Amino acid sequence: MAERPRETSDRPGLPPGFLWGVSTSAYQIEGAAAEDGRGPSIWDTRCRMKGGVGDGSTGDVSCDHYHRYAEDIGLMKAIGVDAYRFSLSWPRLLPTGKGPVNPAGLDFYDRLIDGLLNAGIEPWATLYHWDLPQGLDDLGGWTNRDSAGWFADYAVLVARRYGDRVKHFATFNEFSVFTLFGYAIDWAAPGVTDRAAHLKAIHHVNLAHGAGVDVLRSLVPDVSIGAIHNRQLVLPEGDKPENRAAAALLDEHWNRAFPDPQLLGCYPPQIAEAIAPYVAAGDMARICRPIDWFGLNHYGPIFAKADPTKTWGFGWGETPADAPDHGVGWPIFPEVFRDELLELTRRYGLPVYITENGCGGDRDAPDADGRVIDGHRIRYLEVYHQAMRDAIAAGADVRGYFVWSLLDNFEWGSGYGQRFGLVYVDFPTQKRIPKASAGWYGDLIRKERGT
Ligand code: FCB
Repeated sequence: MAERPRETSDRPGLPPGFLWGVSTSAYQIEGAAAEDGRGPSIWDTRCRMKGGVGDGSTGDVSCDHYHRYAEDIGLMKAIGVDAYRFSLSWPRLLPTGKGPVNPAGLDFYDRLIDGLLNAGIEPWATLYHWDLPQGLDDLGGWTNRDSAGWFADYAVLVARRYGDRVKHFATFNEFSVFTLFGYAIDWAAPGVTDRAAHLKAIHHVNLAHGAGVDVLRSLVPDVSIGAIHNRQLVLPEGDKPENRAAAALLDEHWNRAFPDPQLLGCYPPQIAEAIAPYVAAGDMARICRPIDWFGLNHYGPIFAKADPTKTWGFGWGETPADAPDHGVGWPIFPEVFRDELLELTRRYGLPVYITENGCGGDRDAPDADGRVIDGHRIRYLEVYHQAMRDAIAAGADVRGYFVWSLLDNFEWGSGYGQRFGLVYVDFPTQKRIPKASAGWYGDLIRKERGT
């Protein structure tokens, strides 16, 4: 299903039918890591490696969403969202990545999807949010060209089982983050740091995306397919020429290594040269398949600096000391978000859904009355919401907005130290407390809808 053509509206600002949602991902919230036949993923492995996760924690239990999904649907209903973006756990459905399926895993997502539909919430499913089955990593993971076929087979299973009820699918979440941090900079699973491995992973993930799009298109009636990219302006730290060069290369890796081949049919110049040995005849056409929307995850710009100790010679630089904080409590750059939305519309010409935007921090805690008053998050969301409206007013084709995240959860290498939720989770008791920002978001949605 192609996205509806954009309608015009008398209401200033947002197009009619604008979609409001919240996002999560499987490994970050489900827990039940060794239950009901789920196989291990590369993140289960990383959590057990010394230094793999800052606070030594794991996703074994996390928010226990596997058992508490009905309560979590209730929380979404209370906020009043239109849609819920979640990811399917590949190792819960196919414990070793290929071969035998896990019926209990299939049943879990049936219950989740049916619960969402009964609550009037549209399910938006991402096929891959970083939790590759360990069994596939043992075969080389994304460095193995067969990985595109493994992903396509997994997509067939998902499409056949859920395609009657789920119509919005994204192939991958943040292609460049998990490939760069997993295969070039050791910040994510599987923790490889090697140029050739990284280049192969980039190309094979792109091939997997194209194969996944073809599967979903052919098996899911009325499907709407997207891909979710993190795009963030890359600026050099200071004005040194070597930092400018570092920023230019990081920009290719972070912002263009995936959307350009998928949507324009070519790699950006420096990557194109390096990746050529791994590109076979016909590959670019396999990667560049028509999709229906562009999913943007955006948090802020990146500052780059030259760092010869790193795989590609670039590293992360410092944010300028005088950067504006807009009352949030740390530097934020909403105008960069506005410009990014405009640039996306211009460069790729697809409807845009903001599939993640939100605000972390380690300060959220219940007060003496048991309330969690997260004023900094409300301020952040207000400012970014205004930037989105400014972009739309200037011509950006934005159709929806999802807050990251519904729940405080397992924040990858930061463990449980960073809370991004609209809902506070007391991990020892699993008690959920909607924060002030959950109330603010619900009010905003009702105001925007005029209900
Ligand atoms: C994004 C990830 C998401 C979460 C947020 C804070 O990069 O897609 O899983 O970690 O950042």
